[in-house]
Amino acid sequence: MTTLVLDSGDLFGTRTKKEQVQTEFMCEHTQSFGYDAIGLGEREFNYGWEFFEKMMKTYRLPYTNANVRDAGTGELLLPEFLIVERQGIKFGVCSVMDPSQKIISMSAKDRDYEIADPVATMRDLVPRLREQCDTVVLLSHLSDRPTEALLREVQGIDLAVIGHSFKSYNRERIVGDCVMLSAVHEGRVIGRADVHVNNDDGKVMSVQVHITSLDDAVDDDPVMLQAVNDFLQAAEDRRVAQRAAFPREMGSEDEAFLTSNNCKACHTGIYQEWRQSKHAQAYTGLRAKSMQFEPECLVCHTTGYQYHNGFDEQERTSLSHVQCEACHGYGTEHARNGDMNDKARESCTACHDEDKRPCYDETKHDRFEYATFWEKIAH
Ligand code: HEC
Ligand code: HEC
Ligand code: HEC
Ligand code: HEC
Repeated sequence: MTTLVLDSGDLFGTRTKKEQVQTEFMCEHTQSFGYDAIGLGEREFNYGWEFFEKMMKTYRLPYTNANVRDAGTGELLLPEFLIVERQGIKFGVCSVMDPSQKIISMSAKDRDYEIADPVATMRDLVPRLREQCDTVVLLSHLSDRPTEALLREVQGIDLAVIGHSFKSYNRERIVGDCVMLSAVHEGRVIGRADVHVNNDDGKVMSVQVHITSLDDAVDDDPVMLQAVNDFLQAAEDRRVAQRAAFPREMGSEDEAFLTSNNCKACHTGIYQEWRQSKHAQAYTGLRAKSMQFEPECLVCHTTGYQYHNGFDEQERTSLSHVQCEACHGYGTEHARNGDMNDKARESCTACHDEDKRPCYDETKHDRFEYATFWEKIAH
């Protein structure tokens, strides 16, 4: 009896700063599970190659992949396969990714990648692997139907563990001489396959699959639970500290922002003009950069961030973008006496301040000047 611990990829989170921090935490703890091999998924590129490489090195994560290359040099990024020897049996473990999966990275400057056809890749690799080992295991980051198609095309794979899939198989599927296994994403279940391998030729004799759901019936591991709680507390402390740099102390708790939908009823023409302006898209730009939870950006890209009853990223109020009241002040103070015009004329430099702007790029942006800037949005 021996155990191979395998994963077919997509360990990393989605493309937000928050999930990047979570991903590092996960990598740190994944190390202690003692994986023998991990296949490459497109999510592993979400935070850029540098971050991925740092995770592999720092936490000894044994990634492997046979079909993703640097487009410039043509070199594989990871070991083409791994050989794990157990009780005299040599397991050759390899992995392929789906060329139709888009690799998108949050990193400003990343390398370009090239993903080769999985069938051609395996046709070339399997005979070479079979010369060196007894049992060939494919970590197939292709989801299940393309994996099945590949197994019909390429002989000589004994076991295929499927990734990039939302299905768990309660029992194995057999395609030709190969056993296909699948356990669902996000660590919601653990898939265990008891595989009886022939000692002489490494062929799979029989398989028994157990899918264990990690639900409330499974006790939390106290050490891991403590680590998770500590991590969540640290994340909350960090969030509070970042927010504290932009305290919500201006204006008055008795006043309210009514949103531009309110103003639209009476100032229809101005509303239409505003909709065409960049102010009406200021939050969209943050989302595109996955920065929509960062106080250091929200302060200028939303309405009333430092004011009582203004935009709140926790409640996701309808005050995203630079709306009417970001310049004119609380709608509840609407008095038709010219005050709201005065306020608006003085509002610009709270945000159009090049020294306070992390997004300022002198090659792209003009320095703020009231007359010329107002002209572009005049109403
Ligand atoms: C019920 C109709 C109505 C709504 C809703 C309304 N306004 Fe007005 N507003 C008026 C009228 C009428 C005037 C005075 C005539 C004018 O200047 O068009 C006025 C004047 C103004 C003025 C110029 C005078 C001043 O006080 O500076 C501004 C600025 C203004 N509104 C902004 C807003 C904003 C911002 C909103 C949404 C929060 C809003 N209005 C909602 C009817 C409305
Ligand atoms: C002090 C105010 C301020 C802060 C803080 C701020 N921005 Fe901006 N941002 C602006 C202004 C003003 C513009 C429009 C400048 C122009 O077009 O002249 C802008 C423009 C942008 C644009 C539009 C595209 C472009 O390059 O012009 C993006 C995207 C952007 N900011 C992202 C961010 C991100 C991400 C952060 C946080 C890291 C941030 N901003 C923080 C004021 C700010
Ligand atoms: C970027 C800041 C800004 C935004 C956003 C903005 N305004 Fe204004 N608005 C101004 C300024 C500044 C003036 C005064 C111009 C002047 O007369 O010098 C003004 C003037 C007005 C006036 C008075 C017009 C007049 O003829 O006297 C109204 C009404 C008004 N805005 C309504 C709105 C409404 C409604 C919205 C949202 C749909 C809006 N504004 C969005 C800056 C803004
Ligand atoms: C609450 C912050 C805030 C205030 C107040 C504000 N702006 Fe802006 N402004 C922005 C942001 C953020 C952008 C960029 C939006 C984007 O492109 O995503 C922007 C973009 C602009 C642009 C577009 C630049 C371009 O290249 O087209 C002009 C013009 C502009 N603002 C003028 C003004 C004027 C004039 C005022 C005052 C009357 C003003 N703004 C007040 C935040 C603000």
